[in-house]
Amino acid sequence: MPITIKTKKDIENMRIAGQKAAAVLNMLDKYVVPGITTEELDKIAFDYITRDLKCIPANVGYNGYPKTLCTSLNSVICHGIPSESQTLKDGDILNIDVTVIENKWHGDTSKMYAVGKIQNFAKRLINVTQECMYQGIKKVRPGEKLGTIGSAIQKHAENNHYSVVRDYCGHGIGKVYHEEPQVLHYGNPGEGLMLEEGMCFTIEPMINLGSYHSKLLDDGWTVVTKDGKLSAQWEHTIAVTADGYDILTLREEEEI
Ligand code: MF3
Ligand code: CO
Ligand code: CO
Repeated sequence: MPITIKTKKDIENMRIAGQKAAAVLNMLDKYVVPGITTEELDKIAFDYITRDLKCIPANVGYNGYPKTLCTSLNSVICHGIPSESQTLKDGDILNIDVTVIENKWHGDTSKMYAVGKIQNFAKRLINVTQECMYQGIKKVRPGEKLGTIGSAIQKHAENNHYSVVRDYCGHGIGKVYHEEPQVLHYGNPGEGLMLEEGMCFTIEPMINLGSYHSKLLDDGWTVVTKDGKLSAQWEHTIAVTADGYDILTLREEEEI
């Protein structure tokens, strides 16, 4: 499948989807507290998406995935499955990743949540990972190469003595959830695909406190750090505009 180019109208439709996905993350803020299970968070999100937002939770049934959210706790890199046996506790860090389909278009976004009071080293990993995402986003404009984005992310992570996960990446998005191109979060400036106005893709760096190596658990979904150390991730859906970028899943709390 080739890379699809979206019209201005398509991008406005994708923004509607993106803003609904962003609303799910905002809505969840007050529920992410010690004592709640990730299954309960998933139920709250499913009900909100279907009843209030009146759109489709894209993860449900996607390649057999069973839930609305991915809830990736502490050393889970991505694709953690909500579970009634997983209760959040003070000091945990949690990524919640959600995708909705609105009028056939996808909006995909994730953020990190601190559960109760977290330690400084965890807070720092969360903040630097968000900065990595923003530094990648700021490189987006027509004529720029994907490698420049990956390089900006990798530099900021490695300058802070963290590592960039290699086994998972960002992706083109539109009427198809995961489409071309692959958006690596590492690379060399000036290399790779040249960006064009109308391309839409996610930037979703997964940054580890220790080594970048990952391991897939027996459930076939949950990806964890091989060394058991913490991992963080943030994700936005981005459109390439005539003179730069447009963050379709931007939340009001963000200052970028
Ligand atoms: N939202 C994830 C991403 O950022 C993909 C989750 S697929 C699922 O691309 F099946 F695990 F939900
Ligand atoms: Co994504
Ligand atoms: Co996602």
